[in-house]
Amino acid sequence: MFASNFQPPENWDRSGLPGWTYASEELFALEQDVLFRRHWMLACHISDLPEAGHYIGFDIGTERALILRGKDRVIRAFHNLCRHRGSRVVEGSAGQCKQALTCPFHGWTYNLDGTLKSALQPRSFPPLDPVEWGLKPIEMDIWHGFVFIRFQPGPQPPMSRLLARFDNLVTPHGLADMIRVDGEFVFAEADVNWKSMRDVDNEGYHVPKAHPSLQDLYGKDYVDEPYVDGASLSIGKLNDKPRQFWSVREYRKLVSRLTHLPAPQNDSWIYIGIFPNSVIALYPDSAVFYQEIPTGVKSTRQRGAVYRFADENREMRAARYLSGRIDGLTADEDLQLTKWTDEAPESSGFDGIILSDLEYGVRSHHDQLRSLMPVFNDPAAPPAGTLAKRNSMLAESTAQETKQTHG
Ligand code: FES
Ligand SMILES: [Fe+2]
Repeated sequence: MFASNFQPPENWDRSGLPGWTYASEELFALEQDVLFRRHWMLACHISDLPEAGHYIGFDIGTERALILRGKDRVIRAFHNLCRHRGSRVVEGSAGQCKQALTCPFHGWTYNLDGTLKSALQPRSFPPLDPVEWGLKPIEMDIWHGFVFIRFQPGPQPPMSRLLARFDNLVTPHGLADMIRVDGEFVFAEADVNWKSMRDVDNEGYHVPKAHPSLQDLYGKDYVDEPYVDGASLSIGKLNDKPRQFWSVREYRKLVSRLTHLPAPQNDSWIYIGIFPNSVIALYPDSAVFYQEIPTGVKSTRQRGAVYRFADENREMRAARYLSGRIDGLTADEDLQLTKWTDEAPESSGFDGIILSDLEYGVRSHHDQLRSLMPVFNDPAAPPAGTLAKRNSMLAESTAQETKQTHG
């Protein structure tokens, strides 16, 4: 039923990104600007902000955002940057303010719609217009309850347009009505480049060997489609009779008794990859998201959360517990492989990689990086201090070539 129509092109280039691209400070700085500042970032879900005054803090690179529900119940995104002298207005990854946000530095307050409410000792300033001196808004788009923000304009269309081809697939889950489980985002830290984490997640070829429990769960019928226009899709149809693991067998039994979803959503794990760094996964018992937040060229924070159905019954809850357990095992297994592959280019024996047709998803992610930052094609790192310039030069000549070809 899920047979993918996708076929990799003939004689595709099976090499990965050059090893230096996983360890370059200069490239890391360029990625912060080109990718994380100018692409949509999955910040949270609307159920993370149930009441007026609830906020989510989202940091990436040198950018910091706060997503806030106003008294009018509208969700808005702002730079987490006091207009007085730039302090953070709120701290932490989540919280709640009652009537207003108060900056911890000199006590300026902001209304829950972001406008300036008051400055302490206002007569020490000229008149301050509440809108002009309000928190600076950040572009935001909500897709089936997931809140995406973009710090600066970039090449992608609105997220709800980019992901529209999955609308029918996700509608039965009623994602916008789902409810966050537990109070905190889940974080895991690893001393690896963020792309090593994403590479491991961008293919299913490793499932049979690296993830015995996933193989038991859906190994017989699993398909990956690569990134197309910034999003990818993978679907694992649950095996009828898992044999190997108690938790998988119990999970399968529970799921077969759940009746709240139609086929195929009722017996599949569905993953939607969102370029550059996020995945939304739909299970018959829950939905999750996870993403890589690069914190250094060799340090990455994985951030994620789990959402349950609003009418969750005992069986759904038990199934969610087990899917979380399977996910936890999988994450540990991936982390180890991520570390080993991230270290590989440092070895004197490393001579590049070769990708299988079943790993074309990795290639398609790399291709997007290459087209956004052509310096990714360089086999060796440009001389120190020249990377940004070289990248602009390459981008310009590519643009000119395209113009000539189409012109
Ligand atoms: S920096 Fe916020 S009140 Fe001064
Ligand atoms: Fe994996």
